[in-house]
Amino acid sequence: MSDYLHLNLFTMNSVEHVSIGSWRYPGDQSHRYRDRSYWTEVARTAERGGFDAVFFADVRGIYDVYGGDHSTAIEKAIQTPSNDPAYLVPAMAEVTDNLGFAITKSTTYTHPYQLARELSTLDHLTDGRIAFNIVTSYLESAAANLGLDGRMDKQTRYDRADEFMDVCYALWEHSWDDDAVRRDPDAGIYTDPSKVQSIDFAGEFFSVPGPHGCEPSPQRTPVLYQAGSSDRGRDFAAKNAEAVFVSQPTERGVRDYMDDMRDRVAKFGRDPGSIAFFPGIVPIVGETEEIAQAKYESYKAQIDVDGTLALLSGFIDMDLSALDPDQKIEHIETDAIQGTMNAFTKSDPDKEWTVREVAQFSGLGSTSPIIVGTPDTIADEFEHWFTEVGIDGFNIKEVVRPDSLTDFVDLVVPELRSRGLVREAYKGSTLRESIFGAGNARLRSDHPANQPL
Ligand SMILES: Cc1cc2nc3c(=O)[nH]c(=O)nc-3n(C[C@H](O)[C@H](O)[C@H](O)COP(=O)(O)O)c2cc1C
Repeated sequence: MSDYLHLNLFTMNSVEHVSIGSWRYPGDQSHRYRDRSYWTEVARTAERGGFDAVFFADVRGIYDVYGGDHSTAIEKAIQTPSNDPAYLVPAMAEVTDNLGFAITKSTTYTHPYQLARELSTLDHLTDGRIAFNIVTSYLESAAANLGLDGRMDKQTRYDRADEFMDVCYALWEHSWDDDAVRRDPDAGIYTDPSKVQSIDFAGEFFSVPGPHGCEPSPQRTPVLYQAGSSDRGRDFAAKNAEAVFVSQPTERGVRDYMDDMRDRVAKFGRDPGSIAFFPGIVPIVGETEEIAQAKYESYKAQIDVDGTLALLSGFIDMDLSALDPDQKIEHIETDAIQGTMNAFTKSDPDKEWTVREVAQFSGLGSTSPIIVGTPDTIADEFEHWFTEVGIDGFNIKEVVRPDSLTDFVDLVVPELRSRGLVREAYKGSTLRESIFGAGNARLRSDHPANQPL
């Protein structure tokens, strides 16, 4: 467990992310997602609030499950239009010193050599402030755009992801020795060839001889995030992730997930205490309870029910337009995101959700708990999650942009700091040190990436 509470801003380089309809809220600036100055402002504010990182979700493809076409997704701006988040990082890094950047990349739709190079480059340019959110993706439409016959089944996606990570680990951790670069003008040697190894990887999905094209970056392997929620996905996360993004609407769901994950981490020979847990949360804060409640009501009034159902239909690969609004959601094992399904069918056995209730609840931040109140009330709740539930931090989900972030930083962070829950100053210089403590710029020795080739 961490010494203090860590914070990520969970966002997307798009108009709408997980609070569908909020772009209509008076003053909302989501349309500025194309504007570099919007993101540099976000970076400055997040760093002022002591955030560890800005965490970017990302998808390829479009939400076309709802009603069998993409018209709702286009009309309501559901994660479309969106731009690639990685290109925002240099601009945001330029105006900050310690803030990290978690980039979502799909192991299903990229190649590990290419990805290892991209993330090494960003880790160099940011002095070690990069995390890789490893996803296997879920939209059928993404596969079609990339010329594939269809979405791979989940088992195959995770098998490919395992091999993908083996290639990345070999390139990041085992290809270049720390002292390979000599830069010796007298000897005419820039890099000592005896200290740079090929990786000669030949697997079922990838063949990569190497060596890595980049010299070692400050963290070598970027901080590894994952959000696997199916049985196979949890095993993948337990093997690879240093931090997991928990997507459960109830405390009970979060606790069960954490217990299960710690057992799985131990089975992979890793210290179960070393994995960090970040539930998503939607804080809605006001100077008084009345102001906070009024904000909550006005946010709820903007929820776009159709749009939210279209987003969820893509998450779980089930056309919710085909169901009666008062029909109960029945559990299925989905090839898309199991966590979203489980949030409504498993996280609380005493509650059954109708389609209508799911749409109302998920309209603000998707499947995470919503906390409404004064800075004091919200800090009480955060303190409870940190000290009683044992989480390491939160992925803060936005409703209105940038007000959800600025409200949080200006109102809640001072209260969290006064309680010693959020640090006053960053520790270390890399993102891994920010999360796991100074001196921990590199992966722990019990991580599988450190096993010899
Ligand atoms: C909280 C959370 C966030 C996710 N974010 C993304 C994302 O940004 N992009 C993406 O392609 N997939 C994302 N995924 C989906 C995962 O990539 C994965 O494909 C999917 O969850 C299926 O695996 P699972 O059932 O084991 O979770 C996310 C899943 C969860 C639970």
